[in-house]
Amino acid sequence: MRLLAVDQNSHGGTTDFIESLSSFSRLHRAQRWEGTFGDFLQHVLPANPSALARTSHEYVWDMLRWHGRAGPPDASENLRARELFKRELFGIDEPLSRVVDYFKAAAAGSDVGRRLLLLLGPPSGGKSTLAIMLKRGLEEYSRTDEGALYAIRGSPLRENPLNLIPTSLRPEFRDRYGVSITGELSPWARDFVEREFEGDFVRVPVERVFLAEASRVGIGTYAPHDPTTADIADLVGSVDLAKVAQIGDEGDPRAWSWSGAVYAASRGVLEMIEILKVKREFLYLLLTLTQEKNVKVSRFPLIHLDETILAHTNLAEFHKFLQEKENEALLDRMVIIKIPYALSYRDESRIYQKLVSGAPAFRNVHLDPHVLNLAAVFAILTRLTKPEREGLDVPKKLRLYAGEAVEGVPETEATRLRAEAPDEGMTGVSPRFVINAISNAITRGNTHSLTSMELLLALKDGIESDARMDVKQKKAWIDHLVTARKEFYNRWVKEDVHRAMFASFEEEAQQLLEKYLDEVEASLDHRQVTDPITGESRAADERFLRSVEEKIKVSDSGKLSFRQEVVRKAMVAFKAGEKFKLASHARMREAIEQYLFEERRDVLRLVTSTARPDEDARQKISVVQQRLVNEYGYDEHSAKEALSYVTTLLAQE
Ligand SMILES: Nc1ncnc2c1ncn2[C@@H]1O[C@H](COP(=O)(O)OP(=O)(O)OP(=O)(O)O)[C@@H](O)[C@H]1O
Ligand SMILES: [Mg+2]
Repeated sequence: MRLLAVDQNSHGGTTDFIESLSSFSRLHRAQRWEGTFGDFLQHVLPANPSALARTSHEYVWDMLRWHGRAGPPDASENLRARELFKRELFGIDEPLSRVVDYFKAAAAGSDVGRRLLLLLGPPSGGKSTLAIMLKRGLEEYSRTDEGALYAIRGSPLRENPLNLIPTSLRPEFRDRYGVSITGELSPWARDFVEREFEGDFVRVPVERVFLAEASRVGIGTYAPHDPTTADIADLVGSVDLAKVAQIGDEGDPRAWSWSGAVYAASRGVLEMIEILKVKREFLYLLLTLTQEKNVKVSRFPLIHLDETILAHTNLAEFHKFLQEKENEALLDRMVIIKIPYALSYRDESRIYQKLVSGAPAFRNVHLDPHVLNLAAVFAILTRLTKPEREGLDVPKKLRLYAGEAVEGVPETEATRLRAEAPDEGMTGVSPRFVINAISNAITRGNTHSLTSMELLLALKDGIESDARMDVKQKKAWIDHLVTARKEFYNRWVKEDVHRAMFASFEEEAQQLLEKYLDEVEASLDHRQVTDPITGESRAADERFLRSVEEKIKVSDSGKLSFRQEVVRKAMVAFKAGEKFKLASHARMREAIEQYLFEERRDVLRLVTSTARPDEDARQKISVVQQRLVNEYGYDEHSAKEALSYVTTLLAQE
């Protein structure tokens, strides 16, 4: 697989891009709206009163549904609301579904909306990515007609203009428009209305606002730095001394600096990174903010704020937090959603694919077709616990989790195993570790081609040089590397090389399957087979049948029932108007593959033959190599390696 650099913009591409930039900015200008509150009531509100009275939770939930509008129409509401995350987050559907459920319940006014949402997960497990998706999703939504948001112009909290309606008039408002107003004016707005408009709120200016993290509009982020110097003012602001000097009154809202993160997030979301690292005083403030929708700062009465808090933390910090008894009450006021690592190696591999294709270091580096899957298998092995059940081991469990069929185990077993080990995915190797190992291998080797075996070495190196790990864990992880190679890579690479020995493997396999079926039918019905070339009749070729069946250890006593079962499956396909394909019968497929491989084994012997290969041998080898390159995703370097690797494997069999 070659990771191509992004297409260079052709001339046409550039003009298209400039055109879309200007249409973006045209659209953006067109969407602007400004007027008095009176205009707002008259021209904006009537179209959709309930949309304009939404709480931040309702807004987030609507945003998720808006992004899901293009999803499959027959999908569940929950699935569609996850559409936003689909492009960036893989293998964590279950946790995402919980996040979505949280917003749905909170939007419906349930009590969970009064609890703080805490994402808990291992390092580099996608928590920040989830938060970023939500934030970007909100920004985009706020630019749409459905997501239009209005605010009192100039308000540092971008208050909902509907908060201007005095309490005594709200019942009437509700009767008229069918929605209740829950917010309160901030001290800033109250002062503004009095001072500038002598209380005539109908004249207060209103504007449409667009959420944007970069300009701190409706999206705030707080990351704790040094806890000893962290000041609560970072969250809720403080007296602005320069303004006090101008205005002369410390209690004037204009003399307050409204730059805290909770104000930036008003109407949208506040992301709290590593929330459990903050001082307890901060935590109380945030919990009260979620529960009561207000904050208290000195000098002012309670300040009403409507925003959704999205917090995250890692496991180590969480365990530390749990140890302090007085934190129990705090935990009670949070909704904790675990965000574990992916557990299907296919999903994990997609994560690497995403990270690798976005990184300049990987541009123009060829990875053999199994590199990422193999790295993913290793990663998942470190995350799984041993299954209790007889006949199951970790590699089998890993395959079940990836949706692969495992002989003798029903598919439903995966669900049961998952339920048995609820903490799986909360520990183990992180995607970042794997990606670092791969990039080290590439930069150090200064190479343009990385093979699976080189990847394993790079991972081994990464494990051995990791200062955080103790000896026992290092050993366990290195054992996982061995398992990944023996139980997965060997199988994959053998299959590639074997197939590459045929001009068209699929075709030959299909022909062989059909021959097998013909012979089986003749044998079951005690019919004669007519030889297509000589035209002579003969009995079914029992020797051929057995040599296929022996490849998958069908015994002499079991052959009859095996044959009947194959014929029955073939009949089912036939009746459905389909061809009986190898892919639809796992055991038959294995038997046929083995049969064909053995026929061609001599080519591989040529690879290692000690005598200097003659022209004919060289030719045969190079054809296989070329097929690996053309059809199986290898490059020259990795094709050579794969061939010699498989040859040594076969020598050991
Ligand atoms: N399930 C996943 N699907 C797709 N990408 C993922 C997934 N998990 C992690 N990643 C990728 O791994 C990288 C690290 O993830 P992220 O920063 O979101 O993790 P985090 O949970 O915030 O970690 P930390 O606790 O270290 O802050 C990101 O580039 C992210 O895209
Ligand atoms: Mg993070």
